[in-house]
Amino acid sequence: MASLVSSLSSEVNSVPEKYVVPLEKRVSADVPIGTHIPVIDLTQPSAESIHQIIKASAEFGLFQVINHGVSETLMADALAVCKEFFKLPIEDKVKFVEKDEGLSDFEPSIDQRPKLYIEKEYTPKKKGSNTNEKETVFWKDTFGHGCHPLTEDTIMSWPEKPQTYREVISEYALELRKLSLRILDLMCEGLGLEIGYFGKEHSQTQLMVTHHYPQCPDPNSTIGIAEHCDGALINLVQQELSGLHVRQKDGKWFGVEPIPGALVVINGLILKVVTNGKLSAGVHRVVTNSTSDRTSVGSLISPIECIIEPAKILINESNPPLFKSFSYTEYLGYYFSDTTEIEAALKPYKLYD
Ligand code: OGA
Ligand code: NI
Repeated sequence: MASLVSSLSSEVNSVPEKYVVPLEKRVSADVPIGTHIPVIDLTQPSAESIHQIIKASAEFGLFQVINHGVSETLMADALAVCKEFFKLPIEDKVKFVEKDEGLSDFEPSIDQRPKLYIEKEYTPKKKGSNTNEKETVFWKDTFGHGCHPLTEDTIMSWPEKPQTYREVISEYALELRKLSLRILDLMCEGLGLEIGYFGKEHSQTQLMVTHHYPQCPDPNSTIGIAEHCDGALINLVQQELSGLHVRQKDGKWFGVEPIPGALVVINGLILKVVTNGKLSAGVHRVVTNSTSDRTSVGSLISPIECIIEPAKILINESNPPLFKSFSYTEYLGYYFSDTTEIEAALKPYKLYD
């Protein structure tokens, strides 16, 4: 467990070598807060919300929602139990580390059983070598598990400690799933897709992911998560503190403002494909800070194995398909193995460059 950043960060006052980002890849934590990133009030007339969601999804692939129906108490309780999980003694967490896989990177198992992900330690990249491996270990620990369908067996596989984890997270998972499907339906209305279009095979899994980014002695030399798009359909993230950055269409980066009670909606690559690029996937990253630990809780809705393709109704002579049909499982293989480019997983399926 020495490899858990959370067990090391309080003891060190400099950043161990493997976490140090090469100079040319460093990012500034100091980007402006994106006050123009839409914060959408879901109690306003739905036509307004639809318009704002479609616009934000095209420009950023990311937006925030407020007055979304998930109670602030439940949100606070969910964040609290996830934070407490990381504060548990090592003995309570170690059982969630896969023994036979040794050091595993962030790749959920097919059955989505609970897993504490230890960042893989890569051998330093040789100059000029052309591997797909990332060069730096991210300054974070991650815990995740499935929560749909929410069976008794699933819940019993979750942590026993903190004591209220199972109760709080099952309620939170149901609420976030409901909200995700509601937001997806608003997208459908805006695009002319039938309501419920995403409610079947596109959304048959849900993963609850807690990232814990301990305070870092030298934020400039580390990264929480390097720039990426989520491989899912949609991700709803609760963030307590700033640290999440999003890339605007023109390439500029902005901080996503932490707003109490708000949820950050991040469109995933699958949403981009199915909407034939009408909605983009949010390009985002996470930076570290030297003053406080940061915990985020994300609920990722993804497909089960099915054919992923642009919705037929969005295709016509002036809107040719941008992607060919593909198997979700095959795509996932690319998503986890090739991190050389943000959209590397879609590359084999792109019909235009
Ligand atoms: C992710 C992610 C953002 C955050 O889980 O893919 O980007 O704020 N999380 O931790
Ligand atoms: Ni992400």
